[in-house]
This record gives sequence, structure tokens and C-alpha cells, in this order.
Amino acid sequence: MKDHAVALITGANKGLGFEIARQLGRQGLCVVLGARDLEKGDAAASVLRSEGCDAHAVQLDVAREQDVQALPAFFTGKFGRLDVLVNNAGVAEWALDDLDSFRRTFEPNLFGVVATTYALLQLIKESPAGRIVNQSSQLGSLTSITKHPEMFGGFVVPAYTASKAALNGFTVALALKLGSTRVKVNSAHPGWARTELGGDAAPMTAEAGARTAVRLATLPDDGPTGRFFHLDDELPW
Ligand SMILES: NC(=O)c1ccc[n+]([C@@H]2O[C@H](COP(=O)([O-])OP(=O)(O)OC[C@H]3O[C@@H](n4cnc5c(N)ncnc54)[C@H](OP(=O)(O)O)[C@@H]3O)[C@@H](O)[C@H]2O)c1
Repeated sequence: MKDHAVALITGANKGLGFEIARQLGRQGLCVVLGARDLEKGDAAASVLRSEGCDAHAVQLDVAREQDVQALPAFFTGKFGRLDVLVNNAGVAEWALDDLDSFRRTFEPNLFGVVATTYALLQLIKESPAGRIVNQSSQLGSLTSITKHPEMFGGFVVPAYTASKAALNGFTVALALKLGSTRVKVNSAHPGWARTELGGDAAPMTAEAGARTAVRLATLPDDGPTGRFFHLDDELPW
């Protein structure tokens, strides 16, 4: 069994998930990169290993029950523990606005997060410092988008905003439910970062976009739970 903390980052073969894995790996955590295409996950983990990180990959489409149900046995068998879960995998269909688009968006952005979290919750509760980070978006902050709609241009689209607002609701309710445990659950807004989802016009690098989730994944024991952050700043729901 490893003597250092183990983290699962979903959707980590590229984009923010890959950078989160890299930064947690550099801090000495053992990182497991969830990828729905295992070949891509293995390739990404091997890049991190070449940089000195203890990195592994696991087959994980968060919308695929079989993949999710296999997770507890994978972590128990290979590492004997799981300390950190970063629910990062997500999609955005900016141009589409119909019921099918809602279903395709909610599947990874909410239901996949809930399924993955519940499958692994017992293991995370057994950790001395269990941390769950839900990769949200300021586009899911109902206060921000109603007070300052001009800040968000055309990016306030129904399916994505509703999925991230619902994810924030999950963060709050789960944190309350776990209040008597050591587990901390928070939502992260990475900022607008250059990835496939964020696009080329985004002002932040993926490396900078990863920092909020990394901070929340490594909170000290007296850190917050049930809250929403961008870097060190707290955001309204
Ligand atoms: N970039 C931004 O500006 C920004 C801003 C706010 C919030 N976010 C959030 O940050 C997270 C990461 O976004 P990103 O910008 O890094 O996007 P990205 O580069 O498009 O990466 C998304 C990752 O999620 C994976 N994924 C999608 N559906 C999945 C599923 N069903 N199961 C498992 N993995 C799945 C993708 O896998 P494949 O490679 O197989 O497609 C990919 O690894 C998302 O939750 C997004 O909403 C991003």
C-alpha cells in the first residue's frame, strides 16, 4: 500500500483535468487519471511519470455504470485507499438548446458526478483527509449571472448553466450531509481557460485554470466545506 495520498481526477486525459493531475502529482500525491479512452489516459499518465509524478490511468466514462461500479475494487486493490476525488469531467454544447442537449450535458456534468462520488464515498470517508472537488463554473452561479449578465457574453446557455447550478446544489447538500465527517466538499470555478471546451479566446492557461481545484483538493483540516471558490476568492451560489 502507498503511504501517500491517492487522488482520482475524472476527465484527465487532457485540458484542466490533465493539469490538475500534473499539479497534484508534483505535490507528491499519487494521481489516477480517469479517461473514457484508456489509451489516451495511459498516454497522459506516462507523460506525468516522465516528469517524475506517480501517475496511473483508469478507464472511466462517468456515464457508464460498468466503469463507475469497477472503481471501488480498483482503488482498494491497487492502492488500498482513495483520499481525493476531483469531479472534473464535463461537456458544454454552447450552440445547442433542446432537450437532447440537456440530457447529454447533465449525464456527465451532474449524474456522472453523483454516480462516481457515491461509488467512492465510503473509501473517501476512510481517508484521514477526504476531499471532493466538483469542477463547476461561474456560469452556474445564479447570483453572478443575474447580477452581472454582461460579464458572461453568450456563454450563459440553458443546459450548461442548469447543469452547473445543479452540481453546486449537490456540493452544498453533500457537504451538509457529511458535516460530521472529515470529508470536505467544495465547488471550483477554474476561470475561463484555454482548453477544447474553453476555446482559444480564453484569457487563462490550463495551468492557471487548474489551480482552484488543486487548492480545494489539498485543503487543510480547518479548511472550508460546502462553498464555491475561484482561486482564493469565494463566489456566490
Ligand atoms: N475551460 C474552461 O474555461 C472552463 C470554465 C469553467 C468550467 N470548466 C469545467 O472544467 C471541466 C474540464 O473542462 P476542460 O475545459 O478541461 O474541457 P476539455 O478540455 O474539453 O476536457 C474535458 C474532459 O472531460 C472528459 N469527459 C467528457 N465527458 C466525459 C464522460 N462522460 N466521462 C468521462 N470523461 C468525460 C473529456 O474526455 P474526452 O477527451 O474523451 O472527450 C476530457 O477529458 C469541465 O467540467 C468544464 O465544465 C471549464
